[in-house]
Amino acid sequence: MTPPSEFPSADGLWTGLRLAPGAAPGVTLAPDAEAALVVAQGTVRWVGARADLPAEFAGLAPHDGGGALVTPGLVDCHTHLVYGGQRANEFAMRLAGATYEEVAKAGGGIVSSVRATREADEDKLFAQAAARLEQLLADGVCAIEIKSGYGLALEHERKQLRVARRLGEAYGVTVRTTFLGAHALPPEYAGRSGDYIDLVCKEMLPALAAEGLVDAVDVFCERIAFSLAETEQVFQAAKALGLPVKLHAEQLSDMGGAALAARYGALSCDHIEHLSADGIAAMRQSGTVAVLLPGAYYTLRDTHLPPIDALRAAGVPMAVSTDHNPGTSPTLSLLLMVNMACTLFRLTVPEALAGVTVHAARALGLQDTHGAIAPGMPANFVLWNLHDAAELAYWFGQQPVRAVVRQGRIAIG
Ligand code: NIG
Ligand code: FE
Repeated sequence: MTPPSEFPSADGLWTGLRLAPGAAPGVTLAPDAEAALVVAQGTVRWVGARADLPAEFAGLAPHDGGGALVTPGLVDCHTHLVYGGQRANEFAMRLAGATYEEVAKAGGGIVSSVRATREADEDKLFAQAAARLEQLLADGVCAIEIKSGYGLALEHERKQLRVARRLGEAYGVTVRTTFLGAHALPPEYAGRSGDYIDLVCKEMLPALAAEGLVDAVDVFCERIAFSLAETEQVFQAAKALGLPVKLHAEQLSDMGGAALAARYGALSCDHIEHLSADGIAAMRQSGTVAVLLPGAYYTLRDTHLPPIDALRAAGVPMAVSTDHNPGTSPTLSLLLMVNMACTLFRLTVPEALAGVTVHAARALGLQDTHGAIAPGMPANFVLWNLHDAAELAYWFGQQPVRAVVRQGRIAIG
């Protein structure tokens, strides 16, 4: 594998591009206008119509885009990428009629991935997650969130988060780590949920944060996971350490989690199929991003749609992500999620594209460095073998990437 430091530099003048609408804030070009982009020392210096290129950039090293469509690097803002094993058997159980909750209660679900994750050592987890990451990167992903939550004990959560950090270094991709110790109750704490939450708040989180392994803190707030009060305890512990929070909220029922998360200034509330009007109002006030996860909705054959119209009317930014995980969303294509967000959730194409770029970056607190092509931002962009931006949502099961520039280097192409 080529170390990212050996990827060719993207510095120079990129021409022969077609700028996707919304890709560069403040720059609107006619659909067929040739766009150009200047990268210097890994940072975008200028973007606009080729015809308007300032003379000072004309002599820079040329990169011919060959007429490709260009978008910002995609951001996958919700994944559980690091885990042991897989759960195809549960897929079969659900096909035979069992619900996600029934599978979980029968000892399957998250806890079965916990067993496999605890058994795997760090190198094995790294190798398995790296193979998955490569597929996401091949779809144009330039920044990714990776959660823990399949260890549920200090050493195993640490192992997951260390693997996440190593992946970022090995591939030269921006990784944001999220501590999800409160994902499920580990079997050894059966009937002692309060004790486990104490462990999460008083030992696991402070230790992992001190090791620099935690960029944000998440909880699965649900009937089959943790209560609203337990969620708040974890949020308080995060706040005490100055860490931002996010929440798996209202996926299977309306627990009031989104409103609580909003009170803590959450970066995002994710899933939100059962989000209430109060939850939406609270998210609007706090500027919390709504992260839509059509892969989980699809896999669980859910029929309860997230309140898209109300979110849109309230002006709550909507992101779209893979939620890659072995139980409810075993997908490795963020572009497929763009397609599903449109087909299943009726997002417009521009909404779905903003959902995997600018709004996804915001859901990770990365809005100053990712999700847009703008002067001063690190160069993260994708060249596509496509003509119209709408094709990004229209095709599914294709890999239309022509080239990927990640962190100022040509990672693919
Ligand atoms: O985001 N909802 C909770 N967590 C995951 C599923 C985890 C699993 O089943 O392993 C999700 O869908
Ligand atoms: Fe999730």
